[in-house]
Amino acid sequence: MEAFIKIILSCIFVAFLAIRWTNNFDAESLRGAKVLVTGSSKGIGEQMAYHYARFGAKIVITARSKDTLQKVVEKCLSLGAQEAFYIAADMSNESDLDRVVDFALKKLGGLDYLVLNHIGSTRVAMWDGDVEHAKWLMKINFFSYIQMAWKALPSLEKNKGSLVIVSSLAGKMPSPLTAPYVSTKSALNGFFGSLRHELAMKKSNVSISVCTLGLIDTETAMSKVKGKVNMPAYPATEAALNIIITGATRQPELFYPWFTYIWTLTKDWIPSFTDYVVQRSYNYNP
Ligand SMILES: *[C@@H]1O[C@H](CO)[C@@H](O)[C@H](O)[C@H]1NC(C)=O
Ligand SMILES: *[C@@H]1O[C@H](CO)[C@@H](O)[C@H](O)[C@H]1NC(C)=O
Repeated sequence: MEAFIKIILSCIFVAFLAIRWTNNFDAESLRGAKVLVTGSSKGIGEQMAYHYARFGAKIVITARSKDTLQKVVEKCLSLGAQEAFYIAADMSNESDLDRVVDFALKKLGGLDYLVLNHIGSTRVAMWDGDVEHAKWLMKINFFSYIQMAWKALPSLEKNKGSLVIVSSLAGKMPSPLTAPYVSTKSALNGFFGSLRHELAMKKSNVSISVCTLGLIDTETAMSKVKGKVNMPAYPATEAALNIIITGATRQPELFYPWFTYIWTLTKDWIPSFTDYVVQRSYNYNP
């Protein structure tokens, strides 16, 4: 019963926060903003590019596929982006990481937002001991983030800019069938939580927003979880807009959909209940 009351109170708290930051958002603040979004040829990254474009930002997008990027850039320009450029790059290649940040700094003349969103492809399956895959995924989902963030930091500092990290509920609590993915997202939450302390202690001008997302209805995610997961998926375009608002209002965290926040509480308050529900959200017949 006590747990139930806590849940109700947290719902009210979250609703309060949601209303507060939505009201503080000034769409005009994004007009002419210099933005680099990674993983932006499809999914949430593509939707973020379109939202930034509608707000009149100047954007650089990156992913591996040149042809797709070209189409996204064209659409961004037609939607109202002041400027839009693309650079094809492989986030598992260390020299590509610096090349992408340098390209954005040069094309836009600095950065106000670095939105790190790309992920490597991983299976939704029981852990099978493939350590090489875990290392490869760590390189793309984690090490590339810290390298690019550090590279962009001086310009963000100068512009009082923001680092926006697209993470997952998986970074706050483990789920089955995605152990390597969970590891990379937990690493991101740990690293950028630590960096946020350090920036505050240095009286830095840069804000860090870590975004906790639930299941989002992107084509890639939907094809991977098909038949394996019983949980609702939320729209990518709304997730993308929430991420952008969180960055623009310099909030430290986003929980989308809102109940992902409740899970982060119940995992500690009522762990056995949480484990029960989590395990039953996956179809697995031994
Ligand atoms: C990494 O990218 C650089 C260019 O940025 C390229 O010259 C090099 O061949 C790439 N390495 C691999 C392993 O693909
Ligand atoms: C924050 O920006 C101001 C310029 O607006 C600069 O003087 C100051 O050094 C910056 N802070 C840090 C920690 O770099």
